[in-house]
Amino acid sequence: MDLERLLTDRLAPAFAAIAGGPVDPAVRRSQHADFQSDAALGLARRLGRPPREIAAEVRERAALADVCAAVEVSGPGFLNLTVAGHALGGMVSALAADPRLGVPVVAEPETVVVDYSGPNVAKEMHVGHLRSTVIGDAAARTLEWLGHRVLRANHLGDWGTPFGMLIEHLLDLGESGAAQELSMGDLDGFYKAARAKFDDDEAFRERSRQRVVALQGGDPATLRLWRLLVTQSESYFLTVYDLLDVTLTGDDFRGESSYHDQLAPTVEELDRLGLLRRSDGADCVFPPGSVGRDGEPLPLIVRKSDGGYGYPATDLAALRHRTGTLGATRLLYVVGLPQRRHFEMVFAVGAQAGWLAAPARAEHVGFGSILGPDGRMLRSRAGGSVKLVGLLTEAVERATALARKRNPELGEAEAAAVGRAVGIGAIKYADLSGDRHKDYVLDWERMLSLDGNTAPYLQYAYSRVRSIFRRAGAAARPDADVSLAEPAERALAIELVGFAAVVDELAGTLEFHRLTAYLHRLAVAFSAFYERCPVLRAEGPLRDSRLVLCELTGRVLRQGLDLLGIRTPERL
Ligand code: ARG
Repeated sequence: MDLERLLTDRLAPAFAAIAGGPVDPAVRRSQHADFQSDAALGLARRLGRPPREIAAEVRERAALADVCAAVEVSGPGFLNLTVAGHALGGMVSALAADPRLGVPVVAEPETVVVDYSGPNVAKEMHVGHLRSTVIGDAAARTLEWLGHRVLRANHLGDWGTPFGMLIEHLLDLGESGAAQELSMGDLDGFYKAARAKFDDDEAFRERSRQRVVALQGGDPATLRLWRLLVTQSESYFLTVYDLLDVTLTGDDFRGESSYHDQLAPTVEELDRLGLLRRSDGADCVFPPGSVGRDGEPLPLIVRKSDGGYGYPATDLAALRHRTGTLGATRLLYVVGLPQRRHFEMVFAVGAQAGWLAAPARAEHVGFGSILGPDGRMLRSRAGGSVKLVGLLTEAVERATALARKRNPELGEAEAAAVGRAVGIGAIKYADLSGDRHKDYVLDWERMLSLDGNTAPYLQYAYSRVRSIFRRAGAAARPDADVSLAEPAERALAIELVGFAAVVDELAGTLEFHRLTAYLHRLAVAFSAFYERCPVLRAEGPLRDSRLVLCELTGRVLRQGLDLLGIRTPERL
């Protein structure tokens, strides 16, 4: 149990006795002691009594003797709580003996679908797909570590009208030429060339239209060409996932096309439920609460006037499949904020149709854009969207150069591995360490800096821990008594025992910047401890105790970064 919770549990009965009902003791970290409770102030107003008197009464009534070394009434009526060194030491020891670092496996595992990455076939992945991939992977890793059954769903854009022109362009290039172009990752070139012909050439346009009809009609020759496009793109996306070091595999592709058979039954069911309305020749659902700027109800178009199904219908079929067939109770959609309205409407229709009923629920895990140094949407020099692979390669190159410079003894292979861990880690961390709803500026200097709230700083802290154990020549003794006489030891210990609460909250909010902020605080506390408290030069029980603190710091940093998909090299 973490300290805030423990202190809350001890204070709550005392407050309740005075208030005659439950009161949240409002325990938080404090500058003046380890923790502080503010609840006496609010309660005093309610009861019309002096706040200091209430705080003093809580102090008398609460059973704190075994956990607190000092409990003081201060200021207008705060309770300042100083945790007893032996209690804290005991918690640290318990953590050291726990392979899960105080984070229990959930008692009731859920089936969670994490819908993320979702690039489009024969189109370059852009930085929005990068954010989705990084955030979604962190969500999948975190929920999996907590014991949930996580199903990764890569909702690939692999169906729809553009495939007419893409297939015709493929035929123009010749199959092997096209395959070569796509496998090299020149997806944008391919797409743009097809688009240009579609815009300028009437005959090509007509061929493309007929091709869409053939594709939708299941024409075997057309399907084979379509599959060629899809597999080439998939294998390219897999190279990006490999470079990015994410857990998505080829088995996780759940392209839009895989819901093809379920589109008609899905729309029929909406019809049976009386939810369909005709509007401008299209079949629509008007979910309650969806209104445009002008106050007019907004439709979700499920069947277009030409009879075709689009993006919304596919998402409805996918949702119905995920809850109905897969039995998922939590659906996460890690997609940029511009699609917020789309998901609100899909979820609302899902609820109306009964496909999204408690305990099942859906969340749009939205995020902002990545901006260039000029504060505008990230663009390449030519003005087009930035190629994701280029961005990743640049990060790895920069970090490898940095690693070589810092540590000339690193061999070629190790420098490359470290460069990869640091470069990719830096990109992921930059993405995860800000409030995901906000845009963020891509700033190489800052994200690769060894100072500040960055991946390299945390990786460096981890490598320092490892270096201590290389020099010690042995691991920490698991049964060592932990003594916390120095303030820097106490401060580090308090951070260490706070890990579980951070992860617990993360599972609900998926606000990864809270985990990164915690890991950064931990690394800062470790660095202060390491400066002030000799470890290897200490002797006997003190040395053993400090080695336990070092080892736990390393394990928490490693586990925390692992939840974010960031590697921790032994040497940096
Ligand atoms: N392919 C879509 C895009 O590039 C993202 C898919 C998101 N997932 C979903 N279930 N709609 O915008």
